[in-house]
Amino acid sequence: MPEKFLKFPDDFLWGAATSSYQIEGACNEGGRGESIWDIFSHIPGRICKGDTGDIACDHYHLYEEDVDNMKKIGLKAYRFSISWPRVIPEGKGKVNEAGLDFYDRLVDKLLEADIEPFVTLYHWDLPQALQDKGGWKNRDIVGYFADYAAVVAHRIGDRVHYWITHNEPWVVSFLGHAFGTHAPGIMDFSIALQVSHHLLLSHGEAVQVLKAIGNEKNNVGITFNLSPLFPASQKEEDIKAAERGDGSLNRWFLDPVFKGAYPSDMWSYYQDDVPQISPGDMSIISRKIDFLGVNYYSRWVVKDDPRNRILKLSFLKPDQAEYTDMDWEVYPQGIYEVLKRVQNDYSPRAIYITENGVAFLDKLDKEAKVKDDQRISYLKEHISFVHKAIEEGIKVKGYFVWSLMDNFEWAYGYSKRFGLIYVDYPTQKRIFKESAYWYKKVIENNGISY
Ligand code: BGC
Repeated sequence: MPEKFLKFPDDFLWGAATSSYQIEGACNEGGRGESIWDIFSHIPGRICKGDTGDIACDHYHLYEEDVDNMKKIGLKAYRFSISWPRVIPEGKGKVNEAGLDFYDRLVDKLLEADIEPFVTLYHWDLPQALQDKGGWKNRDIVGYFADYAAVVAHRIGDRVHYWITHNEPWVVSFLGHAFGTHAPGIMDFSIALQVSHHLLLSHGEAVQVLKAIGNEKNNVGITFNLSPLFPASQKEEDIKAAERGDGSLNRWFLDPVFKGAYPSDMWSYYQDDVPQISPGDMSIISRKIDFLGVNYYSRWVVKDDPRNRILKLSFLKPDQAEYTDMDWEVYPQGIYEVLKRVQNDYSPRAIYITENGVAFLDKLDKEAKVKDDQRISYLKEHISFVHKAIEEGIKVKGYFVWSLMDNFEWAYGYSKRFGLIYVDYPTQKRIFKESAYWYKKVIENNGISY
C-alpha cells in the first residue's frame, strides 16, 4: 500500500514529558525537603535492584543541556513537574526560594528555546512531612495543595500558560494506597478511595487558584491515565467485570470532574469503602477546566474473578499480541477509542495526549547508537490513531512522548527505558536514540508518513 502523509493542524503541539522525581536527582541539594519517594525507594525490596531517585538523570544540574537537546529535537512543548518538597520543604509554610529559582531558570531556558512549558503540580512526590500528617488521607491536604499551587503560580505564572494539577490520580490512589506498590506503600482500599476524593478536591481548589493568579491565556487541566476496557468473553459476568474495571479506572475520575458526581454504579458497588464527602465538594471538583490530559499506554482485558478482593476481576493477556518491556500489550487503536469515548461522554474543551510511549530493551550498540525501531513503530501507530481522532473532529491539541529521556521508572527503577534519549547513568551522558531523530522529522514535517 502506498504511504499516505498524515498532516497535523498547524498549531499542533509536539512535545515530550518527564517528572521531577524521575529525573531531577539532587535530593539533598538547594534546600529540598524529603518526599515520600525518597523514603519509599530506600526501603529494601521496594524498588527493582534497590534503585533510588537520589541522582536519577541529574537534571537539576544538567537542565541546560537537557533543554538544548529538546531544542535539537525541535520540541514545541515540554511537560515537566514541580517537586513540591523542593519548593516547600515541609509541604506547608516556609517557601524555599532556591527551589523556586530552579524552576524559574528552567522556564526561562525553555522560553529562550521557543518551547512551551506545561507544568504539572503533582507527579507523586509528596513532601514526607505531609505524609507524616496523614498525607492524601487527611482532608487538610486540600488547603496545603492550593497554597502550594499559589506559590508556584506567583513565581512562574507570568510565563507558564499550561497547568496540570494532578498526574494520574488513579495511580496515586490505588498503587499508592490500595496495592502498596508505590509510595507511600499503604494497602487499604477505603483509604485509597478517600485519597482519590481529596486528590480531586485539591484539583478543583487549584483550578480556582491558577485561574485567579494567571492571566487570560492560562489553560488549566488535569491528567488521567485512561484505557478502554474489554471483557475476556461475552459471558455476562465478564461484561460486568469490564464495566467495574471501567468504573474504577476511568469513570471514577472523569465523572466527578466533568459531571460533578461519582458514578452511581461504583458508589453502590464500593459500599462501606466510599469516601466521606462534604456538601459543596462536588461543585468544587467540577469547576470548569480548559483541557483534559490523557495518558495512554495500553488497554485492559478483564474477566470476572471472585478471588480478587475488591474489584473481583483479573487481567488477561491476549495471545498473538506484541508486548512491551513492561509486559503491556501494544494496542494502538486504544488511544483512538479513549479519545472518542472521552469526546462523546464528556466533551472536554480540548484534549492533550500528555503521555504516550513505550519501554523496550534498548541497547547501545558498538557504534554507540540505539536502534529502537520498535519504539518508532509504536509511536507511529499511536500517532496515526491520534490523527484519525483529529480528522473526526476531536479537539486534540498536542501530543507528548513519554519520555524525553530514560529515567527512574518508579518501582522498576532504572531497569525500564522509556526515553527518546538514552541515558548512560554512570556517566550521565545523553545519547539520542533513533526514535529521537525520527521524532525530530515528525515535528519538522508536522505529521507522519503512514
Ligand atoms: C506515569 C509516568 C511513568 C509512565 C510509565 C505514567 O503512569 O505518569 O511517571 O513513568 O506512566 O510507567
